[in-house]
Amino acid sequence: MKALILSGGRGTRLRPLTYTGAKQLVPVANKPILWYGIERLVAAGITDIGIIISPETGEEIRQKTGDGDQFGAKITYILQDEPAGLAHAVKVARPFLQDDPFVMYLGDNVIQADLSQFLEPFKEKHFDSCILLRRVENPSAFGVATVDESGRVLQLVEKPKNPPSNLALVGIYFFGPIIHEAIAAIKPSARGELEITDAIQQLIDTDKLVDSRLLEGWWLDTGKKDDLLEANRVILDTTLGKENLGILDGSSQVIGRVEIGAGSTLKNSTIRGPVVIGENCQLENCYIGPYTSIADGARLVDVDLDHSVILRGAVIDGIHQRIVDSVVGQRAKLTATPQRPKALRFMIGDDSQIELA
Ligand code: G1P
Repeated sequence: MKALILSGGRGTRLRPLTYTGAKQLVPVANKPILWYGIERLVAAGITDIGIIISPETGEEIRQKTGDGDQFGAKITYILQDEPAGLAHAVKVARPFLQDDPFVMYLGDNVIQADLSQFLEPFKEKHFDSCILLRRVENPSAFGVATVDESGRVLQLVEKPKNPPSNLALVGIYFFGPIIHEAIAAIKPSARGELEITDAIQQLIDTDKLVDSRLLEGWWLDTGKKDDLLEANRVILDTTLGKENLGILDGSSQVIGRVEIGAGSTLKNSTIRGPVVIGENCQLENCYIGPYTSIADGARLVDVDLDHSVILRGAVIDGIHQRIVDSVVGQRAKLTATPQRPKALRFMIGDDSQIELA
């Protein structure tokens, strides 16, 4: 059994963060989104992993993620020249996949469930495909399935205006080698892409066995800012430990579950968990409230912050209002004079969003 993680794409919905980097490397609880998927696959015993990358962000993904050693996996990078669809990605990956069964995993999904529970029936019952589904309130934003009582898939449609059910495809698919024949038989969709949903529909139309399972536990699709904050909240809530490798002065305190990385210093600051602070951060006169992740090398002075994600090397200095529900990009600077500012002065990049709430 192999795995194919899709980690290409342009990440338009997470702009401006994704102008300078891959959306799959945006951190949730200080860990790139993509790495959660790799860990889920390895936990299910799948260690031969191909990662589809794009020309724009592939090199960064390869450099950060490496050959798989740190996960106990063997990673092969596969370049998809153009974003021509999920089924196109499978086509490009054929030399890696050969005729092995595989799990296809969309790299911006983060799930709680253990994948081995789906792997066993897929192998034992010789399904040609098994897809994971989830009931959602807005099925039109997803691929949507119709299934019979036993879970067998009868029909799939990609982002339908009038959804036939509320069962969305979560972006985790199990395939036997027959999928390559199905992909060879389909044509690009109206948006010009080779859709994996069309390829699975082709399996159904030719009487192949396409099964489905409902995914339990949390499922986080990290496509947009609020999704990212929600993913950060859930992961800090459920997986964070308690470890302090930083240096705190006598007037600083840490309450609840908080992780602080080596080389970080805290002066006159209070941290109320769950909060994760990376390595080599400097915090002075700060209150950091629950559900906040601060990445390596950030510097925060006179800051009152909660429910936010601060990326690597960001600087926030002297903002006297509470900062909430915010994502601050790498090396971004948010500063103010020590007195309450009388005016606001900005240098704001394309697609940035600032709300004075
Ligand atoms: C893709 C798939 C869609 C699926 C979704 C899950 O859409 O095409 O069927 O429901 O992922 O996240 P995308 O989010 O790439 O538009």
